[in-house]
Amino acid sequence: MGKGKVLITGGAGFIGSHTADLLIAEGYEVHILDNLTEQIHDGCWPDYLDSRIEKIKGDVSRFEDLEKALEGIDYVFHLAAYQDLLPNFSKFFSVNTVSTALLYELIVNRKFPIKKVVFASSQFVYGEGHYQCSEHGLFHSGMRTIAHLDQGKWDVLCPHCQKKASPALLTEESFDPQNQYSISKYTQELIALTFGKRYQIPTVGLRYSIVQGARQSFRNAYSGILRVFTLKMLKGEPPPVFEDGLQFRDYVNVLDVARANVLVLQKKEANWNVFNVGGGKAYTVLDFVSIVNQVLKTNIQPQITHRYRVGDTRHSISNIEKIRSLGWSPTRTPKNSVEAYVQWIQKQNLKKDYVAEAENLMEKTGCIRKAVTPK
Ligand SMILES: NC(=O)c1ccc[n+]([C@@H]2O[C@H](COP(=O)([O-])OP(=O)(O)OC[C@H]3O[C@@H](n4cnc5c(N)ncnc54)[C@H](O)[C@@H]3O)[C@@H](O)[C@H]2O)c1
Repeated sequence: MGKGKVLITGGAGFIGSHTADLLIAEGYEVHILDNLTEQIHDGCWPDYLDSRIEKIKGDVSRFEDLEKALEGIDYVFHLAAYQDLLPNFSKFFSVNTVSTALLYELIVNRKFPIKKVVFASSQFVYGEGHYQCSEHGLFHSGMRTIAHLDQGKWDVLCPHCQKKASPALLTEESFDPQNQYSISKYTQELIALTFGKRYQIPTVGLRYSIVQGARQSFRNAYSGILRVFTLKMLKGEPPPVFEDGLQFRDYVNVLDVARANVLVLQKKEANWNVFNVGGGKAYTVLDFVSIVNQVLKTNIQPQITHRYRVGDTRHSISNIEKIRSLGWSPTRTPKNSVEAYVQWIQKQNLKKDYVAEAENLMEKTGCIRKAVTPK
């Protein structure tokens, strides 16, 4: 009989496939709906998918595809998303936001007996979050301006004394989405939590920090530090570092994320809440270069490029106390993630230089800019 049927939208992807593996191990039946986005999968089902998964090729924002996929389902993980930071703004909303509205529209209008929806949000919804000035205390930081960034001024300054401020941990009650992706993720939160409550459909949102591990796509334009640094350093080339490399981030392993997904599915106390899912420890980008060097047993120096990504935050470190109180904590380190990724990537047949291709696209579309007078 099993524990029920779960639909994972975007289940052929990185987080979805690991979540599927864990759900199967726990006795659920897993269905996935995925359009095999060209950028991520080259249009093919990836070979890491468990043969017990029921695979449906379709678009999550297409009424007929989602309606068909919801037949007979008990639980939904809504993970499908458009994620690069390219300036095709409307696509973020037509995929991420519309699909979420459509999901609740179908559940309500077609009376699908869905017991819970868990959806993927992102740490990006915080924007810069709050900063602490040693003299003037806590303040909310707005967007860093292009004028400042173009001069190589990376840090967030206190609005009163203009001194460099330090980042506060990001906590769930705040939000300030500052780019196309994070606005689409935040609207997704509003839709899911509002309709979830209104129509009594238990719903949980998870704001993942940077997720890392095997199966992370090496094809899309944005996806980050693990892919770019590892692919470069495996060829003996210096990893290109944005800004000055002193940005703080927290990194969480995909197997820990899959555990968080399944936990909130099973815990009633999680309903109608959002939770940060992060690594619980801050690392600079330069620290991350050292971790990759450690795993590869190399000593490659980073290349500080004085370039930056438009819409990026200076520092982002999530507070994970709320999900810890449900009984989850991260069990793996960034080093574990790099090891798993290196093992996996070495078995992949990379047909071209995806990193160079992505960089060219990001530069051509103005997503990466160079500071004029680096400091
Ligand atoms: N990976 C991270 O670091 C991270 C961090 C924060 C939030 N998230 C969120 O987690 C979720 C999963 O991310 P991931 O890293 O596994 O990404 P991924 O790109 O590996 O997987 C996403 C999957 O969604 C599918 N998809 C995209 N558009 C679709 C559509 N219109 N219809 C059907 N399927 C579609 C893709 O083919 C892909 O298989 C996303 O919602 C993402 O925004 C990821």
